[in-house]
Amino acid sequence: MFEERIIFHDAIETMEVDFCGTTFAVNADVDAFYDVVDKRLADSGRSWYFLVVYTDCVIAPEAWERFAERGKIANVKHGLGTVRVGASSQTREEIRQRAEQEAFRSNIFNTRDQAMLALGEMRKRRRDSRAAAEGTFLRVENVSLRFGGVKAITGVSFEIKRGEISSIIGPNGAGKSSMLNVINGVYHPQEGTVTYLGNARHQMRTHEAATQGIARTFQNIALFKGMSVLDNLMTGRNLKMKSNFLLQALYWGPAQREELAHRKKVEEIIDFLEIEHIRKTPVGRLPYGLQKRVELGRALAAEPTLLLLDEPMAGMNVEEKQDMCRFILDVNDQFGTTILLIEHDMGVVMDISNFVVVLDHGMKIAEGTPDEVRSDPTVIRAYLGTAH
Ligand SMILES: Nc1ncnc2c1ncn2[C@@H]1O[C@H](COP(=O)(O)OP(=O)(O)O)[C@@H](O)[C@H]1O
Ligand SMILES: [Mg+2]
Repeated sequence: MFEERIIFHDAIETMEVDFCGTTFAVNADVDAFYDVVDKRLADSGRSWYFLVVYTDCVIAPEAWERFAERGKIANVKHGLGTVRVGASSQTREEIRQRAEQEAFRSNIFNTRDQAMLALGEMRKRRRDSRAAAEGTFLRVENVSLRFGGVKAITGVSFEIKRGEISSIIGPNGAGKSSMLNVINGVYHPQEGTVTYLGNARHQMRTHEAATQGIARTFQNIALFKGMSVLDNLMTGRNLKMKSNFLLQALYWGPAQREELAHRKKVEEIIDFLEIEHIRKTPVGRLPYGLQKRVELGRALAAEPTLLLLDEPMAGMNVEEKQDMCRFILDVNDQFGTTILLIEHDMGVVMDISNFVVVLDHGMKIAEGTPDEVRSDPTVIRAYLGTAH
């Protein structure tokens, strides 16, 4: 009976699992279903994207642990990515919480169409990243930056891969924010080159970085405090707007159509970041964690290829940090955005990064996977030697 609830859509590399109307009351119910899922997956001998339909599916509290565990195993062994659809608000909440605890991407959608669209994007990205694996995405070579006598950055080189989440970590004053400013063209290094999407440059203006698809958030929130969330997000669309004010006055029709298209994009971001309830609220009245989320939204409104985040989780409580982590993972997953973030707290960064660069006193002291960096004696020394 579970057999017919598993459908392989070969053309789109997707296995659909239909939990519609199923009740998982005890562990044995979970096992009965998942034994069939696992067998079918094993027989197929390959990996799939998963489309999981939860309409009217009930998972009792006693069975959740097992349900999550078996799902995770199937994922690790055979999953290329998962989209979920039709979950009740309670199930949705459970999935979210599990996702936070175990740092996986929850990818929940309201309609099947949205889920299929997201699947399509995932597949496209995997294809593109395979194709682009050869070309350099972002390379920083031998960059040195001085402010008068202060050496902010000294001879730093590293490379960021397309589609990955990379982090720059290091103690205060290590040169992290300066490095982001070099990458997006605000600071001009005295030495060195930045190569982005195949173009090497020594100097660049900020708006050039933006038109090349680089967006960023700031260590200190830089929003218009008196303006609503919606209007702040609209400012993120500036570069995409063709009509200027004069033209808007002359050709009201086209300008209005354009405005509507931008608004639609912004509404999508509001939905994605779960900030519908505050869309009209002036940003200055929001708690800090939400302001940070709005700032992320504004950066996303520019539809960036490379997103630079300067301490997106600084000053947040544990819950806000978990939320932000999940959004960062989801942005990377759903939009395929390459992300370079700065964080000062090692723990958080290690959970979500593919690659880590460690700066100290303006110099690169280590780089590698989170595990490599964490066990590096030089890094441990730099961190132990500094009070936070
Ligand atoms: N605009 C600036 N003018 C002068 N000094 C600066 C400027 N920006 C950064 N610095 C100096 O460069 C060093 C690195 O700063 P920063 O990049 O902000 O470090 P981090 O973000 O790692 O804390 C510090 O000594 C800082 O005082
Ligand atoms: Mg900084």
